[in-house]
Amino acid sequence: MIVGMLTGGGDCPGLNPVIRGAVRTIINAGGRVLGLLEGWRGAIEGNTIELTIENTDGIIDKGGTMLGSSRTNPYKKAETVDKLIETFKRLELESLIAIGGDDTLGVASKLFSERGVNTIGCPKTIDNDLSCTDVTFGFDTSINIVMEAIDRIRTTAESHRRIMVVETMGRHAGWIACYSGMASAADYILVPEVEVDLQKMCDTLAARRKAGKKYGIVVVSEGAKLAKDDTFITKDAEIDDFGHVKLGGIGEMIADVIEKRVGVETRCVTLGHIQRGGPPSAYDRVLGTRLGIHAGRLAVKKEYGKMVALRGTNIVSVPLADAVGTMRTLDPAVLDEAEEFFKKPR
Ligand code: F6P
Repeated sequence: MIVGMLTGGGDCPGLNPVIRGAVRTIINAGGRVLGLLEGWRGAIEGNTIELTIENTDGIIDKGGTMLGSSRTNPYKKAETVDKLIETFKRLELESLIAIGGDDTLGVASKLFSERGVNTIGCPKTIDNDLSCTDVTFGFDTSINIVMEAIDRIRTTAESHRRIMVVETMGRHAGWIACYSGMASAADYILVPEVEVDLQKMCDTLAARRKAGKKYGIVVVSEGAKLAKDDTFITKDAEIDDFGHVKLGGIGEMIADVIEKRVGVETRCVTLGHIQRGGPPSAYDRVLGTRLGIHAGRLAVKKEYGKMVALRGTNIVSVPLADAVGTMRTLDPAVLDEAEEFFKKPR
């Protein structure tokens, strides 16, 4: 049994623990694992590395992915899918574990249902917005990074009596902004799920100032929108293979509005890829390892077209097709809880 394995899309802390868990499980069962380098690109071109117990030892604490990643989409051209299937056969792969977000898993699901490729999915994203799993690994590390950054931003905000706007990642879902904002006692949180009401935000910040608070912290997801028409604030017009634009810039816009309307000096900090880098937290190491082991077990049991997932404290498997295409957006109840702190006491 030779199992292929790849990591696709934006990287995330916890990918290496998944790889280590799956490799160990498959080798323990007498199989071999070929790592396909740089996401679907490696699966098309056949760029591989033999994964062993030795070369996956000592990677649990490493951020990123030892396999490399890309946003290559084989479905961009029909002939690329044919090439991928030829490569799959040439490498004598019995199955393929794809570790990725909605885009990567969408490709794995299509390859399974339309072309009969034996795929298994493992969900990853710091954005925590994948369906059918309670949490994605990478999210915990990410909110801790944002929280630590805001702890630092708070002291300088207080010294200068400023309002600081912190722009986080989170394309379609506000999990990162809401959780890190709550963990950092933010004065206001803006997420993609709720249309931004600039006046309400400014009134809240002004009221806090009037009540004696000398500084303010606003956390905003990069995907938060100012208008009902679903328009993202973008860096440039460039789009990737899956049709996504490069987000960024809403934090600066918000900071400008606050400075003008509240009349307080305001600065913006965009945390960017720092949120995805460095060693995974203990939670993400354990979650990644468990998901990897279970993905490996699905390969050993030849159960294909499935994705491993966290349900409560258990690792389960769900149909891959159910997990792709719909985002798991922020639970409104959590935002509502965070907003208790934005209210003016009666
Ligand atoms: O992986 C998800 C994500 O981190 C989004 O939050 C963000 O919009 C995007 O990736 C950034 O991707 P890139 O690394 O291509 O700039």
